[in-house]
Amino acid sequence: MFILYIFIEGRTYACVGKFYGFFLRMYKLALSTTVIDQTSEMKRILTFGASSSLKSINKRLAHHVATLVPDGEVHLIDLNDFEMPIYSIDREADGIPAAALRFKKHIDESDGIIISFAEHNGTYTAAFKNILDWISRIERKVWAEKPMLIMATSPGGNGAATVLEAAAVGLPYLGAHVVGKMSVPNFGEVFGDQGIKDEQMNEKFTALAAQLSKAPQEN
Ligand SMILES: Cc1cc2nc3c(=O)[nH]c(=O)nc-3n(C[C@H](O)[C@H](O)[C@H](O)COP(=O)(O)O)c2cc1C
Repeated sequence: MFILYIFIEGRTYACVGKFYGFFLRMYKLALSTTVIDQTSEMKRILTFGASSSLKSINKRLAHHVATLVPDGEVHLIDLNDFEMPIYSIDREADGIPAAALRFKKHIDESDGIIISFAEHNGTYTAAFKNILDWISRIERKVWAEKPMLIMATSPGGNGAATVLEAAAVGLPYLGAHVVGKMSVPNFGEVFGDQGIKDEQMNEKFTALAAQLSKAPQEN
């Protein structure tokens, strides 16, 4: 029927047909856009323990808190996957190691960062410091103003608080936007083999994770 009309008064009726299809497609697009918007609200949370220990308690802590970030998509990395030569200005003349570039890419692609620092002799582990030195040569603002939670834990009562303070003071000079920090003493009393033991502490972790989620995105 329609085809006949189109043949006689061609343009008008052809257009009506097309507009119907057009609106249908727009409607479907609107539905699919909604789904895309929901996905894009997920925040990619780069997460790691600043330690190269295979059984790092800091990696466990960082991972646990990352899972508590509302709308967070946890992206857990391990410093052992970023082995690179010990930084020196002479080695830098040969170029930046690929592992350092990969590490920096993880930062740039994240919406937020969670690091838990192991303390070695009152400061960063050599593994973390080496990566930091290399990536600071790619771009001075290493952390790209990403919202960041910093934590530290140790088996003892000090909770690696010394390295945490060093990070809290030092990282903002390298473009870190620190939105929360927490030292966790006596790791073994908080975490067991089956996961979290101390529920009160877990409430604090949940509040900390919410701080990261609420932090404004600066880029
Ligand atoms: C070389 C070395 C130095 C350490 N220095 C400290 C320290 O200064 N303060 C501290 O609280 N713990 C210190 N520890 C103990 C660490 O807190 C403990 O090994 C912890 O498990 C490290 O975290 P990780 O398991 O995430 O690597 C040291 C351990 C090593 C191996």
